[in-house]
Amino acid sequence: MANREKISRDMSMAVLFGLLTCVLALRCAECGNPGNIVFILTDDQDLDLGGLTPMKKARTLIGDAGVYFSNSFTATALCCPSRSSILTGRYPHNHQVRNNSLTGNCSSPAWQKGPESQAFPVYLSKQLYQTFYGGKYLNQYGRKDVGGVSHIPPGWDQWHALVGNSKYYKFSLSVNGKEEHHGDHYDKDYLTDLIANRSLEFLDKRSPKQPFFIMLAPPAPHAPWTAAPQYENAFKDIKAPRGGSFNKPGKDKHWLLRHAKNPMSNNSIKYLDNAYRKRWQTLLSVDDLVEKVVKKLEQLQLLNSTYIFFTSDHGFHFGQFSLPTNKRQLYEFDIRVPLMVRGPGIKPNQTLKAPVLNIDLAPTFLDIAGLNLSMVNMDGQSFLYQMAPSLRNGSARPYFLVEHTGEGHPGSDPTCPKLGPGLSDCFPDCVCEDAFNNTYACVRMLSDKNLQYCEFADSESFVEVYNLTSDPHQLVNVVKKVDPALLQIMNQKLIKLQSCEGKTCWDTK
Ligand SMILES: *[C@@H]1O[C@H](CO)[C@@H](O)[C@H](O)[C@H]1NC(C)=O
Ligand SMILES: *[C@@H]1O[C@H](CO)[C@@H](O)[C@H](O)[C@H]1NC(C)=O
Ligand SMILES: *[C@@H]1O[C@H](CO)[C@@H](O)[C@H](O)[C@H]1NC(C)=O
Ligand SMILES: *[C@@H]1O[C@H](CO)[C@@H](O)[C@H](O)[C@H]1NC(C)=O
Ligand SMILES: *[C@@H]1O[C@H](CO)[C@@H](O)[C@H](O)[C@H]1NC(C)=O
Ligand SMILES: *[C@@H]1O[C@H](CO)[C@@H](O)[C@H](O)[C@H]1NC(C)=O
Ligand SMILES: *[C@@H]1O[C@H](CO)[C@@H](O)[C@H](O)[C@H]1NC(C)=O
Ligand SMILES: *[C@@H]1O[C@H](CO)[C@@H](O)[C@H](O)[C@H]1NC(C)=O
Ligand SMILES: *[C@@H]1O[C@H](CO)[C@@H](O)[C@H](O)[C@H]1NC(C)=O
Ligand SMILES: *[C@@H]1O[C@H](CO)[C@@H](O)[C@H](O)[C@H]1NC(C)=O
Repeated sequence: MANREKISRDMSMAVLFGLLTCVLALRCAECGNPGNIVFILTDDQDLDLGGLTPMKKARTLIGDAGVYFSNSFTATALCCPSRSSILTGRYPHNHQVRNNSLTGNCSSPAWQKGPESQAFPVYLSKQLYQTFYGGKYLNQYGRKDVGGVSHIPPGWDQWHALVGNSKYYKFSLSVNGKEEHHGDHYDKDYLTDLIANRSLEFLDKRSPKQPFFIMLAPPAPHAPWTAAPQYENAFKDIKAPRGGSFNKPGKDKHWLLRHAKNPMSNNSIKYLDNAYRKRWQTLLSVDDLVEKVVKKLEQLQLLNSTYIFFTSDHGFHFGQFSLPTNKRQLYEFDIRVPLMVRGPGIKPNQTLKAPVLNIDLAPTFLDIAGLNLSMVNMDGQSFLYQMAPSLRNGSARPYFLVEHTGEGHPGSDPTCPKLGPGLSDCFPDCVCEDAFNNTYACVRMLSDKNLQYCEFADSESFVEVYNLTSDPHQLVNVVKKVDPALLQIMNQKLIKLQSCEGKTCWDTK
């Protein structure tokens, strides 16, 4: 009797355990093989100013076949810090990558020893995922003084990473630790096509017994905006969108914006329209990349067991508040990013409004891989429950942090020798897009209130506050108009978030 009870208890434990493992690793019949993942990360692609418009195939094959997130943000609007957040699932104040230079920890020895050794690929590899990386990694990756091309970040089985910042031709790659030089022949060298091709080879050669993770980071649509030959004449009549904050003065804003030329010169406008058109041309090759990968997955009968994520490291602007072109600002156009996901358990044709941050990507990948997230030290949260409520429960965060450490030159900006020190990216027309004192932290709230509160580390301790409900283009800084009690609450939330770590970053009721 006792024995039979024990056996039946053991059996129900086994059934329960089987169920748990199944749910955890998404190995259930409904989902097929354990969740494979393809992650496509573009460079500088905005959402707010039409960045997804040229990508018809990607929208059909990913967004329409799954979810669009209409409130997807980066925790910081600069390449290297944002990519470091994506890899680690941490806010910049925790991975401590401050800017795009080695001295600011971009691919630095401290980064390699610390945060990079705890980034998501390390955990995926422990879960026996076969991993592939192709494309731009971190701006300073591959420099001789920090390990050169022989440094392969842990967790990657196949490593095809760009040395340095975005380029389309005439670059070097680290191919599994060996340097590979490329010239400027479209058929052999065009980086976006090259990484697409290599990912297809990886899919052919992989073992069918274990799941895979593919990360593709094309250079597009970052400068120098080199289109594939067949797309050089596309979008002839396209111009950057007017309206909203385009060519508006930033007179009630922080120091840098008060110093932008307003109205912009015709030269600046010509420059930004050209940038806008050329960026779209480069995105057509990314659109082809998406199509190639999806077709290959279909051919291999893997499409129904594979999650495909598409996003960008941060947004971009074209004349907003009279800043010609760049990122680095706290406004919606720079912090909002496209995010589309398809995959097992995700119903097609959904648009989700819950806020999602770039630090949530890593925990979401690990959640799909069946990892218990309390074992990892990440500030983000899995958003799998948002996309696939049949698989997971969860709740949305009511507000989050955006932080940026401004970049400057110790002397004058090389393109504008007449300007004093402390500024950077002063092009065109000597309008500067960043400065040491463009250092800020914001709380962005998207629950009952649609509000942004930002504090600057400058000589004025400048504060900007926007009511996004009444003022979606952030034309009016309402710091002097809102209830001081509300400012105090926002200030308290900001202080808490700026020192948060792990769970304390999302236990924010
Ligand atoms: C996925 O598609 C393949 C081929 O069409 C099929 O054999 C398999 O059962 C499908 N899996 C799921 C989970 O639908
Ligand atoms: C999504 O919705 C559109 C328009 O309502 C429809 O044409 C399309 O077939 C839907 N796609 C899917 C995958 O359900
Ligand atoms: C770089 O990161 C290390 C820890 O990984 C930290 O000690 C150091 O202060 C960081 N440097 C900067 C400039 O933040
Ligand atoms: C990618 O593969 C296609 C099809 O095989 C080929 O035509 C093209 O030249 C390749 N491009 C690169 C850059 O390898
Ligand atoms: C700038 O362009 C506008 C509109 O095209 C034109 O009216 C104006 O004369 C131009 N200004 C200069 C200085 O060329
Ligand atoms: C995850 O790990 C924590 C801490 O070890 C444990 O309390 C929790 O039950 C685990 N969750 C699952 C779903 O196994
Ligand atoms: C979500 O929570 C509800 C209520 O606790 C529970 O009945 C349901 O099974 C949970 N769903 C998942 C996918 O965990
Ligand atoms: C990057 O950050 C480091 C450390 O704070 C700083 O010394 C350096 O000047 C910064 N680089 C730029 C270009 O601002
Ligand atoms: C910001 O930095 C610039 C350049 O160093 C300086 O001229 C300006 O006074 C500073 N403004 C504030 C508000 O700190
Ligand atoms: C923001 O604007 C909306 C719409 O005008 C208004 O109802 C709300 O009270 C405002 N919020 C704050 C905090 O002022």
